[in-house]
Amino acid sequence: MAENYILTIDEGTTSTRALIVNHDGQIVASAQQEFTQIFPKPGWVEHDALEIWQAVQLTIAKALTTAQITPAQIVSIGITNQRETTVIWDKQTGLPIYHAIVWQSRQSTSIAQDLEQAGYQPLIHEKTGLTTDPYFSGTKIRWLLDQVPGAQARAEKGELCFGTIDTWLTWQLTGGQVHTTDYTNASRTMLFNIHDLTWDSEILEILNIPRAILPEVHGNSEIYGYTNPLQFYGSATPIASLIGDQQAALFGQLALKPGMVKNTYGTGAFLVMNIGSKIKFSKHQLLTTIGYSINGQINYALEGSIFVAGSAVQWLRDSLQIVEKASDTQALAQQASHNDQLYLVPAFTGLGAPYWDPDARGGLFGITRQTQRADLVRATLQALAYQTRDVLTVMQADTDIQVPELKVDGGAARNDYLMQFQADILNIPIQRAQLLETTALGATYLAGLAVGFWQNTDEIQQLITKGQRFKPQMAVTEKERLYQGWQKAVAATRKFKV
Ligand code: G3P
Repeated sequence: MAENYILTIDEGTTSTRALIVNHDGQIVASAQQEFTQIFPKPGWVEHDALEIWQAVQLTIAKALTTAQITPAQIVSIGITNQRETTVIWDKQTGLPIYHAIVWQSRQSTSIAQDLEQAGYQPLIHEKTGLTTDPYFSGTKIRWLLDQVPGAQARAEKGELCFGTIDTWLTWQLTGGQVHTTDYTNASRTMLFNIHDLTWDSEILEILNIPRAILPEVHGNSEIYGYTNPLQFYGSATPIASLIGDQQAALFGQLALKPGMVKNTYGTGAFLVMNIGSKIKFSKHQLLTTIGYSINGQINYALEGSIFVAGSAVQWLRDSLQIVEKASDTQALAQQASHNDQLYLVPAFTGLGAPYWDPDARGGLFGITRQTQRADLVRATLQALAYQTRDVLTVMQADTDIQVPELKVDGGAARNDYLMQFQADILNIPIQRAQLLETTALGATYLAGLAVGFWQNTDEIQQLITKGQRFKPQMAVTEKERLYQGWQKAVAATRKFKV
């Protein structure tokens, strides 16, 4: 009998991937495709949603071909996605009314600031767990409905659909039959009440967003619909997991007990702590968000969102062109010998947690005549680790939990220099995942559980092998000296405004 598989789409900020996973939890084939980053103005980031859909189709085809399997052998599809990125499209034609506004984009800053000035910050935080930052979809929807002529009226008449990328791809795969999202993505819109699990009427009214454009909201492991055979090589295959990428990584790490924390070093870096079934709010500007939901049970999470992590390494490669490949940074950082107090604060699109300063822009401090390329590379990697410490410190203060280890994944977790420095600067062990595609695997497990491919998480636990562990080695006085310098650099960056 032919073997069965799960197909997972991991649609990230700069590229999309398709993975085919077998019953042993092994990735038997994968394909990746980058897509265009559109920067219409400084601080704005947009995507072409149709290009994303084409990239997804291409990667599915490539992965199926590489695995040499037929679509009929796919028993379930999981989708995980860059969160908050906002698409609005026409229900009839399926065409977007404008580019997708990417989570990093700052074009709705004034809408977010108006909400804050009108005193809505406490209400929004209490209901959604979020803060009034242009990061979240709500202000991006408002921007689109304001900027595209006639959009508000069409939205009110029910002619338009809003979706994050999970919703957009589900709509496409089902041939426009299913307009749905999941709790984790909904909880990043700033429109979703995380207590009663509904779109919040009061916030919709404040932002004047018509309810008619919103998708249905579901759990993370259930059948939402079936692929349209015309879109999926003749097969009607269940789509059985939708989940935001950071929450997918939490699940992929099987960080299922309260107090467990993971950090994913992708375009940004996102620390997420499982806080169990009860909502807890941060006193230090961390977000409260929905972690995952299976069988009707909601698990909440605290999150520290760092906007720039891997994208700082991309900046070294693509803009400064001082490294050829991202992987070159490891050896260069290890060689750096001058001035260990060169600090890069990569506030390229403002600062996220715990500062939430959309107007901040990056800074480089401590340059001397001896500063060399390797020093800048090292400072860039160290910035990822320092930002992680900023967030973990307040996460521990908020929860009274001394986190015993940090589980890590994502592309930059491959970098041994970064992992060792991260362990040193946090003074706790770093447990790296063996398969760094933890995000995709999280969605895979949920899609498999929904159709009985795996019976429960205990069975999944048996499939996972632990990766390398990095133990702290640096003297305490040393790490504190370095970290204090970082804190001064952040303070100086925030004072600088153009
Ligand atoms: O909130 C944004 C996040 O979901 C993007 O993730 O993996 O593209 O950095 P990533």
